[in-house]
Amino acid sequence: MLFKRHPNGLDLPFPSEITPQEVYTGRRQFITRMAATAAVGSGIWEMANREAFAQTAGQKLAARPNVALSTDEKQTPFKDAAGYNNFYEFGLDKGDPADNAHTLVTRPWTVRIEGEVKKPLTLDIDGLLKLAPLEERIYRLRCVEGWSMVIPWVGYSLSNLLKQVEPNGNAKFVEFTTLADRKQMPGLRSGVLDWPYVEGLRIDEAMHPLTLLTMGMYGQVLPNQNGAPVRLVVPWKYGFKSAKSIVRIRLVSRQPRTAWNDSAPREYGFYSNVNPNVDHPRWSQASERRIGETGLFQPKKKTLMFNGYDQVASLYTGMDLKRYY
Ligand code: MTE
Repeated sequence: MLFKRHPNGLDLPFPSEITPQEVYTGRRQFITRMAATAAVGSGIWEMANREAFAQTAGQKLAARPNVALSTDEKQTPFKDAAGYNNFYEFGLDKGDPADNAHTLVTRPWTVRIEGEVKKPLTLDIDGLLKLAPLEERIYRLRCVEGWSMVIPWVGYSLSNLLKQVEPNGNAKFVEFTTLADRKQMPGLRSGVLDWPYVEGLRIDEAMHPLTLLTMGMYGQVLPNQNGAPVRLVVPWKYGFKSAKSIVRIRLVSRQPRTAWNDSAPREYGFYSNVNPNVDHPRWSQASERRIGETGLFQPKKKTLMFNGYDQVASLYTGMDLKRYY
């Protein structure tokens, strides 16, 4: 994250880090408008739109609010949550996923749950939606890059799904593999990560009620750029643990490799709990910028241990969280 591996071996900062958001968003809108104007006459515009809306975009997804697990902080506007994304399979700039992810085909879609389990299972997206009652949970999401959002997600605790497959005694970790299809995902041409994007959790983290298997946000199915049709949201960990567009969930006996840890092991550990006391090797993690709040000069917020989700602290009793970052 954050730094492209340049062919010459140098680390280059992402454009979003060296250019204020307002400036590059404006530039992007200008370029998009120009491209749209050029495309209208040729019919490309209509085709692209038809493709985008043939999917389930914008479809309502009813859910019961889970107030006990929700923050009452001000929600990030939908346009920011769906317009400022990390989804490298669709490009490296924050606006790229919203521009490019219309090529993601989210139906039909299946998720395979296998490994150290008694009852492996393949479910399609309708099966997943019906597996447990959908809840709306308003969670803070803190990115390792130093920004955060407050988003009303729709889904249910991942534990509902894991219980169905009956993990056996060897199941100590859970590995999440996401779609890697060059035909749908232009970003796979970049070597920034070793695709597919893979993430992992310890089994007790995966079973924790806060860990949300997520199919929607803001009362709708997930926009493609936010990880349609199914992603993870782990609110006490940095955002990159929340894998998007999951196709396989494997219960395993050993700690799985993860994409960001493979790419920069000193910077992105397996645990990646939000922790203001453990800086990233190249910047502080003590504070954060809330996306969508006030422009460039808004005061930063103090970052809270476990992103404020104190109920997970007992999962790490006795662990040195500087060592297990
Ligand atoms: N999942 C996949 N498959 N590919 C990605 O590039 N980026 C991660 C995570 N999940 C990513 C991913 C990162 S770095 C963050 S911060 C969150 O998704 C961003 O989620 P959002 O765009 O919905 O805010």
